[in-house]
Amino acid sequence: MDLPFAESYKIKMVEPIYRSSREQREEWIKTAKYNLFNLKSEQVYIDLLTDSGTGAMSDRQWAAIMTGDESYAGSSSYYNLKNSINKIFGFDYFLPTHQGRAAENVLFSVLVKDGDVIPGNSHFDTTKGHIEFRNARAVDCTIDEAFDTESMHPFKGNIDMEKLEKVYSTVDTKKIPMVIVTLTCNTSGGQPVSMKNMREIYELSKKYGIKVVFDSARFAENAWFIQQREEGYREKTIKQIVAEMYSYSDAMTMSSKKDGIVNIGGFMAMRNEDLYNQASVFNIMFEGFNTYGGMAGRDMNALAVGLHEVTDGHYLGNRIEQVKYLGDKLINWKIPVQKPIGGHAVFIDATKFLKHVPKEEYIAQTLAIELYLEAGVRGVEVGTLLADRDPKTKENRYPRLEMLRLAIPRRTYTNNHMNVVAVALKNIFERRNEITKGLKILDEAPIMRHFSVKLERV
Ligand code: F0G
Repeated sequence: MDLPFAESYKIKMVEPIYRSSREQREEWIKTAKYNLFNLKSEQVYIDLLTDSGTGAMSDRQWAAIMTGDESYAGSSSYYNLKNSINKIFGFDYFLPTHQGRAAENVLFSVLVKDGDVIPGNSHFDTTKGHIEFRNARAVDCTIDEAFDTESMHPFKGNIDMEKLEKVYSTVDTKKIPMVIVTLTCNTSGGQPVSMKNMREIYELSKKYGIKVVFDSARFAENAWFIQQREEGYREKTIKQIVAEMYSYSDAMTMSSKKDGIVNIGGFMAMRNEDLYNQASVFNIMFEGFNTYGGMAGRDMNALAVGLHEVTDGHYLGNRIEQVKYLGDKLINWKIPVQKPIGGHAVFIDATKFLKHVPKEEYIAQTLAIELYLEAGVRGVEVGTLLADRDPKTKENRYPRLEMLRLAIPRRTYTNNHMNVVAVALKNIFERRNEITKGLKILDEAPIMRHFSVKLERV
């Protein structure tokens, strides 16, 4: 018999969490205006709002914190991080930032101009926000299979090469500063991009003289899927795979809060010195001097260690197995989810789950509220609220997929917690036909409304 899966770590410090009663949660969520972002964290039992900055650091990372160098310029922590980035990604130049969106802000300040077009695989919302803020346009070239939650395509994060070539051949290439490949593709369900796809994107982009930038928040999880699913990579180490992946890119932005396994931080890295020099100017203005850029020395030190841990070959199997553990339970109970299960989260197809709630009443948000009331579990809507209104018509934009995301923080919860989440969803699934009414908006912000929207029950 094969030995079962178990974590490749043991626990040295714990943080208590408490169950609440349904009556308490009814009260709290009403006060929070049916917006899960408005809850206090103590009002949540199992928090699957995000895997961003919510993971547990290792003893080695904490040890590195203690030896952080807080010098304004030229700290050893900066050089530790520079070495890690150079070894793992092969980039000679890098700039630290306070988080991933800050790296986008700095890099796009150099690259993106009014009227530009930036193709990619379902750009993440902050990425899209930084593009649209500069009056440029993000074009989604993700393969169609990504939008069919039942399709078992192994690389649903892939870019459709025909869609990409159509953009390259119909738009003036001077107006296309880059293509952005998001690894893994968060919006389509933490779905990976294949090595073959990266290679093809790079070759085509070089032909047209267009830069390839990897949005790298979950780069290691992507590498793991390549190792498991793509022919010719089974015997390669994660570090070898990552090195090959980045040989097909010119630059990267990184939210270190995900696969850096730290609580805060980001960076950008690039091959080209000129691009580095230009970005440095904005980095100094927006983030800080080039050798800290919005990060404390201790945090750079912890990240330098985290980047090695995430790619060391022990960590990823456990990580992805846990996400799959939750996903498989739901699949067994016929609960509709994005398949195959992705790297950092289980995405529930809310439209298929709650068939009687009209789309105008925010189906995925309704399901998110039900899950919170059932068990104190907090997920996040990735649907109509997140998609905002059309900037011109002011009508709701209904995305192709209306999902509830359950993002699993790294090294934080056990499979017993996953069992609670699964059973809570099963209970709701069994009474799904009784749920016929959703929510309506009382008040909303003009952009990024999902963070602050106020809702009430219909
Ligand atoms: N790119 C991707 C693919 C992301 O998922 C995120 C953040 C960012 C960029 C921005 O990074 O938060 O460090 O500024 N995603 C979080 C999430 C917020 O919950 O998925 P950041």
